[in-house]
Amino acid sequence: MKKYTVTSPANIAFIKYWGRSDHKLFIPANSNISMNLSSCLTTTTACLTDSKEDEVLVRFHNQKYQKLSPKDHKSKALFAQIKRIRKLSKYNKKVKIYSQNNFPADAGIASSASSFSALTSVLLLTYELKDLFNNKKELSKQIRLCGSGSAVRSCMDGFVKFKTGKDHDSSFATQIADHNHWDLIDIVAIVDDKKKKVSSSLGHELAETSSFFNQRIKDISKRMKACEKAILEKDLKKLGEITEEDCLSMISVMMTSKPSVIYWNEGSISLINSVYSWRENDNLPVYFSFDAGANAHLITEKKYQTKVLNKLKKNPFIKSTIINNVDKGTRITNKHLF
Ligand code: DP6
Repeated sequence: MKKYTVTSPANIAFIKYWGRSDHKLFIPANSNISMNLSSCLTTTTACLTDSKEDEVLVRFHNQKYQKLSPKDHKSKALFAQIKRIRKLSKYNKKVKIYSQNNFPADAGIASSASSFSALTSVLLLTYELKDLFNNKKELSKQIRLCGSGSAVRSCMDGFVKFKTGKDHDSSFATQIADHNHWDLIDIVAIVDDKKKKVSSSLGHELAETSSFFNQRIKDISKRMKACEKAILEKDLKKLGEITEEDCLSMISVMMTSKPSVIYWNEGSISLINSVYSWRENDNLPVYFSFDAGANAHLITEKKYQTKVLNKLKKNPFIKSTIINNVDKGTRITNKHLF
């Protein structure tokens, strides 16, 4: 039976997605923007099988393959996506899937963006729903239905916007600029290598309980326009300022939701202080961002990479770093995993 393989990147959001306006259709409360990360990739191979069960095996960098069980709570969304896509197709055959990440499991980097965009794409190809795969807007909507919002942004090249909307048809991803547009980099500084305590899924539900949430949503449309403009004009200072402002706004919502969610540790705080000091005292234009975790994403241009890495070497909290260029989105490869 025909085999398909795709590779898909994770991404870092400049305008964050935190909270949903529709929890069934996974429509984000606000539009959001990100860039794809070249060193945080998932590759997934699939083919139809005569077996009675769907078979999914996942492997992180330097680890063995693990078979996922549909009974495991963490794999629920994955098996639900398989069933949903099978129903759209003319087949009722089960599927065999092997998936691997090129970044370590303990890096504290959310793998859901790369893995769910890769999974959805490979399923659409395997179940011969190629029209949905080839039309990137439709592909992004299919990815949204598996519940990982960040994954929606990974299917297109470079810098991508995920539009909120009123219904299934109006909430999808669009490209702002491709991966060759700007030599931006994201150095991930790992200060915590454990799994996050509160999932983003639960976080999206808690977001509305913060009294800062409505204000954040009101502020965002202005920030969205400014962020798009900064990307198109390659204005690092402007993009950096918006990124930090939006990240701190999301973190405020997290911290003030009920119950409160705090992901940062002392390493995170030390990096924020360092970034402020490098800008002020060393004229080094680097800006921070955080997702639902303690690890810092340091955004700058390629020409400042060595300087930033040298600075990071002096920080005792850092366990490792991952350097990312702007990457393409989900793509087909012939490097099959089985
Ligand atoms: C804080 O629902 O995409 O990263 O599946 O865990 O990646 P994951 O969560 P998702 O929400 C993303 C939350 C965020 C901000 C962002 O990437 O926009």
